[in-house]
Amino acid sequence: MKRLLALAAAAFISLPLTPAVALGGSPGAPGAGDPYFPDQGNGGYDAGHYDLALDYDPSSNVLTGVAAVTARATQALSRFDLDLVATLSVRSVTVDGRAAAFTRSGSELIVTPAATLASGRTFSVVVRYDGRPTYVLDPDGSRDGWIRTGDGVFNANEPQGAMTWYPGNHHMTDKATYRFAVTVPSTRVAVANGDLVSRTTAGGRTTYVWDAREPMASYLATVTIGKFRLTDTRVGGYRVITAVDPKLADKATDFAERHAPVLDYFSSLFGPYPFSSTGGIVDHAPNVGYALETQTRPIYPVAPSDSLLAHELAHQWFGDSVTPTLWRDIWLNEGFATYAEWLWLEKIGSRTVQTSFDGVYAKPADDEFWQTPTADPGDAAGLFHDPVYDRGAATLHVLRRTVGDEAFFTILRTWASEHRYGNADTAAFVALAERVSGKRLGPLFDAWLFQPGKPAL
Ligand code: TRP
Ligand code: ZN
Repeated sequence: MKRLLALAAAAFISLPLTPAVALGGSPGAPGAGDPYFPDQGNGGYDAGHYDLALDYDPSSNVLTGVAAVTARATQALSRFDLDLVATLSVRSVTVDGRAAAFTRSGSELIVTPAATLASGRTFSVVVRYDGRPTYVLDPDGSRDGWIRTGDGVFNANEPQGAMTWYPGNHHMTDKATYRFAVTVPSTRVAVANGDLVSRTTAGGRTTYVWDAREPMASYLATVTIGKFRLTDTRVGGYRVITAVDPKLADKATDFAERHAPVLDYFSSLFGPYPFSSTGGIVDHAPNVGYALETQTRPIYPVAPSDSLLAHELAHQWFGDSVTPTLWRDIWLNEGFATYAEWLWLEKIGSRTVQTSFDGVYAKPADDEFWQTPTADPGDAAGLFHDPVYDRGAATLHVLRRTVGDEAFFTILRTWASEHRYGNADTAAFVALAERVSGKRLGPLFDAWLFQPGKPAL
């Protein structure tokens, strides 16, 4: 009896230390379950909106941020993680206005609210943080995240850079709307996704406010800072906002005007352009080596060619509005955007789609290229290798030749409309193609998407 009582007393005393567990909640998972990036994203909640107030000084590289994330608990939550690199210091965390305990483990910021969050409940977490951000090195050797330039930051976040500058649920399956309020010295411009809402100057510093009204995956967010010429115009029914580094001004004179014809053509093939504004950022970042389809406003490290512009604009439908479920499905982005490049090059009379396809198919059967199945690049290091792009585009061309133009473009339009602002995987695409065409396409997709080796025609 005495012993039992002592145990009960001990349990009672421990209760205030772990109230969440005592109340039946459990910790959210530290990752979203993507085998390529196991720690990316988090379980137990669903982010709905990010309100990011960022203050940045390009000369010292000091970033001071307040991130307010509105989320919904998808389980009774005693504790949950946000993704944020350890190089940034967290000063405080509140949940629904009450101080919350937090610890760090690698790139996980682990937050324990004062009380368990009931399943289904909406809550707001506010993180105050600061530090000197830097990029991460990806498994393929490229840089990703907060990449400093001579006059500011080139900010591209695919696949894992978002955690280098703000806390969040950084797997692409958790999309959210965003507001960015970015304060920089008035000699600089801060460009983000969506619509420019206001620009206010006080004491030599300017705050740019941007609203991204449609759901967006973290890897498509950007806050790019530098000396830019900013234009905000209406061209052919689109709100086109561009930022061009003065160093590249003569190479990008008609940059804003080049968007509407591409978007009109793609709208005619894929369905309506999915976002409230468009445009792009042309930055002088010669060492970055890639462009990115940042939502509404792709970022380019040089003035883009016709095919690069078409590629990034096609991603607005394929990648940004419809986003893969797992990184392994990346061909749903890159194969589609590459095929759209081929379509655009044919449209402007540069070369036919068939010629583009023939160029890929001409690679000999023993070429390394054919060893990687399109829909399984193997690991994170293979995400942006040629087969994902070119074999992906070739797969679509073979599909088109098999089902005919009418069914093919119906498949693309249905894909864009059924999964608008959402996520979908390769199996869903295969099922859609079979449903629309009424054909059994198993062998075609198996050879082109899943098996190594050069498929026969
Ligand atoms: N998604 C980019 C594109 O438009 C490519 C990309 C992102 C990339 N990160 C990269 C390419 C890193 C090479 C290395 O195709
Ligand atoms: Zn691409």
